[in-house]
Amino acid sequence: GGEMRQWAGATQDVYSPIFVKNGDKFESVHIGSYPITSEKEAMEALEAALKAYDNGRGEWPTMSVSERIACMEHFIKKMLEKKTEIVNLLMYEIGKSLADSIKEFDRTVEYIYDTIDCLKDIDRNSSRFKIEQGIIGQIRRSPFGVVLCMGPFNYPLNETYTTLIPAILMGNTILFKPPKHGTLLHYPMLEAFKECFPKGVVNTIYGRGANVVPPLMQTGKINVLTLIGSSKVANDLKKMHPKLNRLRAVLGLDAKNAGIILKNADVELAVKECILGSLSFNGQRCTAIKIIWVHRSIAKKFLNRFTEELEKLKFGMPWETGVNLTPLPEPNKPAYLAECIADAKANGAEVINQGGGTTVNSFVYPAVLYPVNSKMKVYSEEQFGPIVPIVPFDDVEEPIQFIIDSSHGQQVSIFGSNPDQIAHLIDPLVNQVSRVNINAQCQRGPDTFPFTGRKDSAEGTLSVEDALRAFSIRTVVATKD
Ligand code: G3H
Repeated sequence: GGEMRQWAGATQDVYSPIFVKNGDKFESVHIGSYPITSEKEAMEALEAALKAYDNGRGEWPTMSVSERIACMEHFIKKMLEKKTEIVNLLMYEIGKSLADSIKEFDRTVEYIYDTIDCLKDIDRNSSRFKIEQGIIGQIRRSPFGVVLCMGPFNYPLNETYTTLIPAILMGNTILFKPPKHGTLLHYPMLEAFKECFPKGVVNTIYGRGANVVPPLMQTGKINVLTLIGSSKVANDLKKMHPKLNRLRAVLGLDAKNAGIILKNADVELAVKECILGSLSFNGQRCTAIKIIWVHRSIAKKFLNRFTEELEKLKFGMPWETGVNLTPLPEPNKPAYLAECIADAKANGAEVINQGGGTTVNSFVYPAVLYPVNSKMKVYSEEQFGPIVPIVPFDDVEEPIQFIIDSSHGQQVSIFGSNPDQIAHLIDPLVNQVSRVNINAQCQRGPDTFPFTGRKDSAEGTLSVEDALRAFSIRTVVATKD
């Protein structure tokens, strides 16, 4: 509601995933805290968002697009002033390397500029009148109301802003809950929300999601739920809304993207792309390749080269130059990954790289598991971490069937050198997932490309243009010619 509140209640301590030596022990560093607010504060934030929206009569939803853009340009200026602070917090709070933290920041600023340009185009089109069948119509894009916005821990700035920014720009008012791991890095921009936008346009809520989010959904006053996170959480939250037919959802959810290495693939290229695809940011990307299918005839060669290249990856602290593998921010993750490895071993796979799965504090050395089969957790669960399950196949129908049977449908990467064979596979694959990558890793960018998923992997589409559309509805002002 445009107020900075002092918080006297309970707080949540935030510890960095980075451990430092204290005597003969390693300890994680305390880097800050955030308020554990309650349902009461969440409701007050909702009231502030509703008041600012004022059933569509508020200052923000009725402001011209060019005025809203001016506010956003001011916001970008403030953001650029805070770059160092935000980048440092990205490193310390979620363990992302300095290079990737800078990339995340720059990509976000570029995304906002692209979104502004796109909105200008949309606005130019809206200001043209259409005359058909004796009716003159102006087709506009209007806001929905209050958007509840929650981003993920792995891209806490970038992916949060890919929904927050277009939602704001389209005239909605916002309830914004930062991710549990990745809250502090939003502090530097709180003053800017207050300074750049009218009171109540952006309201930040804290505390435990399980305590503050359900009561908000149960009011039925949230018009759009946007979440980049788990399918289960998204489904549970949606069900809490008393008028489900009135709730819009823009969701980026779980994925189990497969890499398929055909027998005629360029193994060097496939290895390079699969290393990047499966292990960038320790495999903590929704777009990561989370299972690799390799033709049995080249499996040995692929595995040898994959493990050789893996050994070249540099483990280290996020600020070290050239570091690839860094500490994991989720405290429970090492135990979960160990469980996946033990389960795979019990069902016949081996960790084929030396030291695979070794855990030291919050570091987990990647484990390459082979041969993986359908009895193992890692065959179907989204590990979201540095485990690379590899499955041998004889007939390409096997990985295709895996994709068809999967409850996920985000992306696939296919590696091969026969264009006809690949062309033949594209249609069946693109009817199962939302992006087919050929001889390239899975990824979201460029951000102007549509980003979505089928089945349980997404709802709605993100990209610069699609996101502006997702947070607005086409409306018509019409009169007789
Ligand atoms: O974690 C999910 C992100 O959308 C991944 O984005 O492919 O650019 O790393 P990325």
